[in-house]
Amino acid sequence: MGSGAAFMDDIILETRGLTKEFRGFVAVNNVNLKVRRGQIHALIGPNGAGKTTCFNLLTHFLPSTSGSILFNGQDITRDKPAQIARRGIVRSFQISAVFPHLSVLENVRIGLQRATGMSFHFWRSEKILNRLNPQALALLEQVDLQRFANEITANLPYGRKRALEIATTLAMEPELMLLDEPTQGMGHEDVERVTALIKQVGAGRTILMVEHNMGVVSSIADTITVLARGAVLAEGPYSTVSRDPAVMQAYMGTTDGALQGAHA
Ligand SMILES: Nc1ncnc2c1ncn2[C@@H]1O[C@H](COP(=O)(O)OP(=O)(O)O)[C@@H](O)[C@H]1O
Ligand SMILES: [Mg+2]
Repeated sequence: MGSGAAFMDDIILETRGLTKEFRGFVAVNNVNLKVRRGQIHALIGPNGAGKTTCFNLLTHFLPSTSGSILFNGQDITRDKPAQIARRGIVRSFQISAVFPHLSVLENVRIGLQRATGMSFHFWRSEKILNRLNPQALALLEQVDLQRFANEITANLPYGRKRALEIATTLAMEPELMLLDEPTQGMGHEDVERVTALIKQVGAGRTILMVEHNMGVVSSIADTITVLARGAVLAEGPYSTVSRDPAVMQAYMGTTDGALQGAHA
């Protein structure tokens, strides 16, 4: 588990009354979320519950209608998306889209260039770029991709591409990593690999993730928040949330039995 008792009250991210309306339709409704430092926190809920919209509000990809967002106790509600990223809130699979025609190593170097504010200087001399190689290789090692370093990214299997995206996100040195459905569209083996990887990179970091696969959620999330119709329905560890009648109702329209822990 990500956090010890000493950190139980150390809140890295908090939302107060966070609300998003799209022309009168309330997609996110008065959400009060508290993410503890060091935890893997999962946001789950049926399709259309407002999970992705929530992420878009947190990264300020979308402006909120009302409510506030606090990061490390500071009100960041009015920050621009770039300021959010600079504070250390980094969303994977969005900012860090990888370039398919470049090698795996080159993609991580671009992530490092970004982190240092060098931006996209593809034309920089190879000699200067090569200085980033040791750091890039260390990141590849963290996601078990070192032997693919010189492979063209397009040739990687799907799960490995996601691992690469995580490496390029780590290059930004995120304090809070947001992952929107990291195992979506993956086969069984890739799901296991990426789940293990998230758990591993979650050590010493905070991760907020949207995830549909209950097997993944039950095995790595410290805390789960269930959204339904834009509002928080339940919150707690998997053992509690999965037995909550309101949660079962929202998911399956039934109150018999707990949510399936494996391969949902
Ligand atoms: N840009 C938008 N304009 C209007 N409605 C939207 C927009 N984005 C999302 N919605 C609606 O808000 C609700 C929540 O969507 P979303 O956050 O994508 O749900 P989830 O990620 O939980 O499946 C859905 O009913 C969706 O149709
Ligand atoms: Mg979504």
